[in-house]
This record gives sequence, C-alpha cells and structure tokens, in this order.
Amino acid sequence: MATRTSTISTALQFAEDVRAGLTRAGQKELPSKYLYDEVGSALFEVITLLPEYCLTRADTRLLQKHAEEIVRRLPSNLHVAELGSGSGKKTRYILEAVSRIQPTFYYPIEISPAALAACEKELGQIDMVSIVGYEQPYLDGLRSVAGRLRKEDHLLVLFLGSTIGNFDREAAEEFLRDVRRILRFGDALLLGTDLEKSVETQLLAYDDPTGVTAAFNLNLLARINRELDADFVLEQFEHIARFNPEARSVEMRLRSRQEQTVTIPRAEMTVSFVAGETIWTESSHKYSAKEISQIAKETGFFCKAQWIDQEWPFAENLFVAK
Ligand SMILES: C[S@@+](CC[C@H](N)C(=O)[O-])C[C@H]1O[C@@H](n2cnc3c(N)ncnc32)[C@H](O)[C@@H]1O
Repeated sequence: MATRTSTISTALQFAEDVRAGLTRAGQKELPSKYLYDEVGSALFEVITLLPEYCLTRADTRLLQKHAEEIVRRLPSNLHVAELGSGSGKKTRYILEAVSRIQPTFYYPIEISPAALAACEKELGQIDMVSIVGYEQPYLDGLRSVAGRLRKEDHLLVLFLGSTIGNFDREAAEEFLRDVRRILRFGDALLLGTDLEKSVETQLLAYDDPTGVTAAFNLNLLARINRELDADFVLEQFEHIARFNPEARSVEMRLRSRQEQTVTIPRAEMTVSFVAGETIWTESSHKYSAKEISQIAKETGFFCKAQWIDQEWPFAENLFVAK
C-alpha cells in the first residue's frame, strides 16, 4: 500500500535560491538539491550503474549482507523512514529483513517527485510493508513521520548513499543533531559514508568518461532554462570535478567557457560570467572510518556497529539515539 503526503517547494523558492546563489559575492553557487528534477533523478540512477561510481554497489553489498543483523540489533515495533530515498532499490534488503519479523511502515522522504514515485513503485509490493511517502525536505518529512508514531513504536532512519557528504562537515554535524532532536531515545540512524581513497579514484567517480555525470551537472542549468525561462547555452559551460584536500571532498562545478551574460526572467535577474568562472553545484565529503564514532558522540548518538565494504571503502554505520 502506498499513500503520499506532499508540501511541494514552489517555483518561487527555486527562483529565490537561484537568485541568491548566482548573485552572491565571490564564488557563485547553486544548491545541490536542485540537481534532482525528473531528468536529474533519472541521470542519477544511471550514475549508480557506472563502473567508476562504486558507492552504490558498495552500499548495496553491505545492506544485502548485513540487513538481518542490523534489524536484529533494533527494538520491536520498528518503523523505517528514509531521508532522500531516491529510487529506494537498496532499501529492499532492510524492509524485507524487518518484514520477516513484523509488519512495518516505510516512509520515504524526498523532494524529487519523480524519485519518490520510482521508490513507491520499486518497494510497493513487499508483503507486510505499508508505504507512506513524504514529498518534503528531510527534516520536515522526518517531523511528519515522528508525529504519527505511537508511544510503543521505534524508528529506524536510513540516510544512505553517503548523501551526508553533500553537507560540509560542520553542517553535517548540525544536521545530525537536528535529526537526533526529532528522534526518541533508542531510535536508530543507519548512515552510509563513503571513505577516503586515492584522489584519482575519487575524481573518476564524479567525472566519468561516458559523460553521464557531466550531463547530470549541466542538467541543473537546463532545469533553470525549463522552469525559470532562462537562456543558458549549455555548450558554453563545462562540468569539472576537483578534489579539495582541506575539506576532503570532491567538488563539482560548472565552468563558463567564455565571457557571457545569462537572463533568468522568472528570477528577475541577469548574471554575467567571465571566461573560466565557475558555479559550485555539489560537494561530496569523504570520511575516515575512525572519525565516525566521534561524530556519533558529538551529535547525540553512539555508534553501535560499523560495517566496511572490502571492495570499495564505504562504511554503513548504525547510530543509536542516546
Ligand atoms: C545522492 S541521491 C541518493 C539517493 C539514494 N538514497 C541512494 O543512496 O542512492 C540524494 C537524494 O536525496 C534527495 N534530496 C536531496 N536533497 C533533499 C532534501 N533537502 N530533502 C529531501 N530529499 C532530498 C534527492 O532528490 C536524491 O534523490
């Protein structure tokens, strides 16, 4: 069964965020959450299949191998929420493991309506699992979920795919604290984190030779054209990925190939670029396995268990709210 609750972020908010990001002094920026419209969500699914982007396969292997154990370590009357579920393919292993013990509810929380619909289709037929989707930002969705739980229920929150890496380190900890405030003692968070590896390997994961990641990134400008009537000429921008050693993150940017001015009527603005100027669109911070338990401690959790993939350094971390 799948039902849906939605508070759609408006075109007005998108216009405001585009305006703020492209008029800020210094580095121009666009929030990475806007990469995921219908086209972006479809392109992201293709990225997960690329030989260079091994994160999803590592995450999947860990869930497939350890889902039973993860669920066994948690209390009964378990409900499952997922922040930024995407298509939810990997989540099947967790839901099937829970449903072998008890009936459950699954709450995917997504701002991409296309991803949410794909997720509901992907996971809608698992016996003993009822789906209630929330088309909302992470914390709003999680508050909605928490508000419907009974006293005796417990929540397992999934935040997979190393999406936490899209926050800078300080914001990631603040976000985890916010998540903790919504949870109750004993609730759990399963956090997927991509681990540090050679710079060359990390960069390839965000700059594949097929050009799918470039299309994913450039689609953000195409989305601004579609939704805000802008006149970005996509050929005049190129995708770049670079490693920032201080931040320990891979940064995706869009670089203007020439001096140019773009009009964005629905954001009531024009924006000029000098040749070589970039727009920062996404960061993917990498972690060391050891720092994770400290992060748990500092954000109101303890790290009860950690599993690391042997083929591609990636950790699944089971945090429990203390
Ligand atoms: C990197 S993808 C990961 C998808 C999936 N969890 C996985 O591991 O493959 C991030 C997902 O989070 C969603 N998302 C991004 N920002 C969000 C926000 N602020 N609130 C809710 N969902 C968000 C995107 O639409 C996208 O589907």
